[in-house]
Amino acid sequence: MWFLDQKDMPTKWYNVQADLPEPLPPVLHPGTGKPITPDDLAPLFPMGLIMQEVSQERHIEIPDEVLEIYRTWRPTALHRARRLEKALDTPAKIFYKYEGTNQAGSHKPNTAVAQAYYNKKEGIKRLTTETGAGQWGSALALGCTLFDMECKVYMVRISYEQKPYRRIAMQVWGAEVVPSPSTDTKAGRDMLAKWPDCPGSLGMAISEAVEDAVSRDDTHYSLGSVLNHVLLHQTIIGEETRKQMDMADAYPDIIVGCIGGGSNFSGQFLPWIRDKLSGKKKDMRIICVEPESCPTVTKGLYAYDFGDLARLTPLVKMYTLGHTFIPPPIHAGGLRYHGMAPIVCHLHRLGFIEAVAVPQTKVFEAGIQFARTEGIITGPEPCHDLRVAIDEALKCKEEGKSKTILIAHSGHGHFDLAAYDAYLSGKLTDYAYPEEEVRKAMLELPKVG
Ligand SMILES: Cc1ncc(COP(=O)(O)O)c(C=O)c1O
Repeated sequence: MWFLDQKDMPTKWYNVQADLPEPLPPVLHPGTGKPITPDDLAPLFPMGLIMQEVSQERHIEIPDEVLEIYRTWRPTALHRARRLEKALDTPAKIFYKYEGTNQAGSHKPNTAVAQAYYNKKEGIKRLTTETGAGQWGSALALGCTLFDMECKVYMVRISYEQKPYRRIAMQVWGAEVVPSPSTDTKAGRDMLAKWPDCPGSLGMAISEAVEDAVSRDDTHYSLGSVLNHVLLHQTIIGEETRKQMDMADAYPDIIVGCIGGGSNFSGQFLPWIRDKLSGKKKDMRIICVEPESCPTVTKGLYAYDFGDLARLTPLVKMYTLGHTFIPPPIHAGGLRYHGMAPIVCHLHRLGFIEAVAVPQTKVFEAGIQFARTEGIITGPEPCHDLRVAIDEALKCKEEGKSKTILIAHSGHGHFDLAAYDAYLSGKLTDYAYPEEEVRKAMLELPKVG
């Protein structure tokens, strides 16, 4: 294991926008179809975050108040998965950076704390958000309590039912939690009228959280992924890892991570992709992993779309399965999103990163193998990384090559034991790619761009 001293913890986030070979496509106003201005976003976000969203500065200082909280769990350790390597009998060297050691158990507090800080600084008293698996809601509930703010979480109904302990954790940290669709908003009531048993989706819950935020002056909305500033806050992960890989005298040939909205994996790979963009490490492979049943990058269309079901958000150019698409109820709730971070999509379009989709049962098979070798019970989302890392390590064995694989391990699965129980008792099933549902959702795409 490689530990970084607290005095060596990075004090700046890395902004890839400074190094992109082509700028990101503009974000459009949903009403006018014209590029959005900072003022258009002001009802939702504080100016501090809006400026980060569009910043072209390569490095952005992390405020002292945020660093002070980061230091309660950062720097996180870099591990070498030697016992897994041995079990696979592979010549590959497998490293993983583990983000499960903080109070909420995933990478999400890296941005939750920063977002709560910037909102508080601008006088906001209350934040609303959506959560899929409950990881993001827990992180924001934690961030809000640390800055003495109120928090309301719209939790996708299927996760609300599957993961009661995540709900309780959020309530312990002082947040109000309701299942989405809920009766608290017009968007939720409209959906319940059409589909009373709706399992919910991240797109639905975002609509509710946005509607709630714009209806009150003391409230802003907070998003746990997708947006540029969220990915920016997560780069502390990769910045630390670069230092730790130096300590281990290693450099990754392959970096692998799951993508729901794209934030955890971007936090790891963006600080490395600098070397690929500059041509210094052209052959480094960066592999994004998504569920076969919600394959946004591997099967989606690159188009302007809304981030939410009720069409309240700005229009973003991204891979999308359509904002009306409701993904099957897989256990990796954090990967059930119809869209993807524009930065991830842009880099994929430009050919710098690749994507693969994997089925749920194979994902948990990898999670069990990791738990029985490395000891960590992994969240359903990062189990996706483990699947592909193991497959790549086995390929190394077949080809007799010793590659260095780096896994962006985004969190533990201590609240996801029901999913492991389903796997162990043979009750876990796969959901095929819902082609017909996606085809229907594609017909609802806005006609812009
Ligand atoms: C542990 C964990 N990893 C990954 C994700 C996927 O989101 P993102 O792609 O934004 O990191 C989630 C989302 O909830 C999560 O909880």
